[in-house]
Amino acid sequence: MLGKKMLDELNKQMNKEMYSAYLYMSMSAYSEYIGLNGFANWFMVQYKEEMEHAMRIYNYVNDQGGQVKLMAIEEPPAVFESPLDMFEKTLTHEQFITKSINDLVDVALGEKDHATNIFLQWFVTEQIEEESNDNDIISQLKLIGDNGNGLLMLDKEVGTRVFVPQITGDSQA
Ligand code: FEO
Repeated sequence: MLGKKMLDELNKQMNKEMYSAYLYMSMSAYSEYIGLNGFANWFMVQYKEEMEHAMRIYNYVNDQGGQVKLMAIEEPPAVFESPLDMFEKTLTHEQFITKSINDLVDVALGEKDHATNIFLQWFVTEQIEEESNDNDIISQLKLIGDNGNGLLMLDKEVGTRVFVPQITGDSQA
C-alpha cells in the first residue's frame, strides 16, 4: 500500500526516467547524424536501460495496488556541440536523477514505507554506476581533445556496448 505522496513521487520519477530515455534517444539520433555510429549505439543502449527503469517503477506501482499516472514527456534537445557536450549533459542529467532518487528515499523513510525504501535501493546503486560510466567517457573524450583518430577509436569501443534486458514487461522488476 502506497501513501499518496509516495505514489505521486513515484509517478513523477517514472516520467523522469521516460524523459531520460527520450534524451538519450535524441543523443543517439544526433550521433548517427554526425557519423558516430558507436556513440549512437551507446546512447541507444542507454535509452533501453532508461525505459526499463521506468518499467520497474510501473510494475512496482501496479504490484502495490497504486494507480500509474502517465504524464507528458518534455521535448529533449535535438542538437549538441560535440560528443563531449553530450556526455557532459548526460552526467548533469544523471546527477539530477541521483538527487531525485535520494529525495524519493527520504520520502519513503519519512513515511516509514519500508517496501518502497527497499525497492529504491536498486536505483541508488544504479546511479553510482551511471555517473561513473559517464565520468569515464568524459575523461577519455577530454584526453582525445580534437584528435580525430582517437575519437574514431572510442567510437568503435562504445559501439560494442550491448543491452542486457533485466526485466520482463509484465512482472516484478
Ligand atoms: Fe534511470 Fe539514468 O537514470
